Amino acid sequence: MADSFDVIVIGAGPGGYVAAIRAAQLGMSVACVDKRGVPGGTCLNVGCIPSKALLQSSEKFEEANHALGQHGIKIAGVTLDLKTMLARKDKVVGENTRGVDFLFRKNKIDYVKGNARIAAPGKVAVTLNDGGKRELAAKKAIIVATGSDSADLPGIAVDEKRIVSSTGSLTLDSVPRSLVVIGGGYIGLEMGSVWRRLGSEVTVVEFLDRITPGMDGELSGALQRALEKQGFTFRLGAKLVAAKAGKDGVELAIEPAKGGARTALKAEIVLVAVGRKPYTEGLGLKELGVALDDRGRVKTDGRFATSVPGIYAIGDVIAGPMLAHKASEEGVVLAETLAGGRPSLNYDAIPAVIYTWPEAAAVGKTEEQLKQAGIAYKTGKFPFTANSRARANGFTEGFVKILADFRTDRVLGVHIIGPDAGTLIAEAALAMEFGASAEDIARTCHAHPTLNEAVKEAALAVDGHAIHI
Ligand code: NAI
Repeated sequence: MADSFDVIVIGAGPGGYVAAIRAAQLGMSVACVDKRGVPGGTCLNVGCIPSKALLQSSEKFEEANHALGQHGIKIAGVTLDLKTMLARKDKVVGENTRGVDFLFRKNKIDYVKGNARIAAPGKVAVTLNDGGKRELAAKKAIIVATGSDSADLPGIAVDEKRIVSSTGSLTLDSVPRSLVVIGGGYIGLEMGSVWRRLGSEVTVVEFLDRITPGMDGELSGALQRALEKQGFTFRLGAKLVAAKAGKDGVELAIEPAKGGARTALKAEIVLVAVGRKPYTEGLGLKELGVALDDRGRVKTDGRFATSVPGIYAIGDVIAGPMLAHKASEEGVVLAETLAGGRPSLNYDAIPAVIYTWPEAAAVGKTEEQLKQAGIAYKTGKFPFTANSRARANGFTEGFVKILADFRTDRVLGVHIIGPDAGTLIAEAALAMEFGASAEDIARTCHAHPTLNEAVKEAALAVDGHAIHI
């Protein structure tokens, strides 16, 4: 007999586990099925968290090597113990995933370790990781939160040794002399930063004529220049056409994106980071007639319902930015909707952060998007060189840019490159969520001396009266 629940969530990543917890908080009985054997999905296990642990460690290494001298702190003979660095990363991951395990228990969620297939609306068949079988029934909803998987490049075989995906790039057992990254997006720049700081020569091959497509062009240009100063090499407007892995490395052939002569490139390790694709394999969606879009994403209406009643989907497996926090918010909104509420999610106020140094963060519309939409806007910009705290801290690279509606002054987009941009952007997201004007931010008293004052000054600059520049 099937075990019966109000809600069955498939996938225990930031979308699925958060949906499960919120549904349980609202009094629903919940099962969450995941085949990884450890909760947390890509983000906690092989994505956001381990990469941030390595970004933090590698930043410390770089500081010890190059940045502490200016503070009068001299350290001789800095050496790298990569094994310890990687072990610390694994420990951080373990602490986080055990945290989710605890939350499952606390909320009395039945966490089922196994592979789920939707056998029929309301029915989930699980092949358990220990070989057993379990049948689950859902009274209210089945939520597909299965996330995404690294996209492949045709003809390039990822072996996770010489040619690695983001997962393999987290566990290299020595620092490669040379690392070629295919794709100048989030993963390429973050993991490229980790290994460059630890000593690799990093070349990024990007298909488009700019890095970080989708990000405001000015920010993207500034990020590229900052990374070039650190030693990154960018081959823009280029595509990988062949890669042959041998004993000592990989021989690559790249070609201009628009066609033309091939050039050869060699690398000890190649990281393929050309995006991610929704993960829908083996769920039985096709058999049930759940509609997918032309990019293989599950089609949903405005309230996460798929084309089959009782089946819902959230996170990377549906349209929208593939970001953990977007998935989590969708999970909360869906759980509350299932409980009879009418919550909503403002997709215009979802921040995005690239955790390079300097960090790059954004919320809302880019200048390119506003121009394309024909929306008249005002711009306020403020550089960190004019921010006293940035000077005191010794990191003055970057700026804050605020785009506000020309007529109403409403904030339409905020773009920050600089120290702790990923934390600073929260203020901008909150302002946008509240429908703030640039003047609202400008008139909010900001503590001195803080990096946040750069946000206030950029807001003042929207009307041309920044104080400190
Ligand atoms: P991405 O979409 O950020 O970047 C992929 C890059 O590869 C793009 O610049 C694209 O133009 C380029 N590209 C595509 N095909 C190519 C080819 N054949 N040759 C050369 N370049 C090519 O994807 P990425 O970095 O793989 O990350 C995947 C997802 O994971 C992203 O959607 C991102 O949202 C998420 N992520 C988020 C992070 C964060 O929030 N900090 C960190 C890491 C990943």
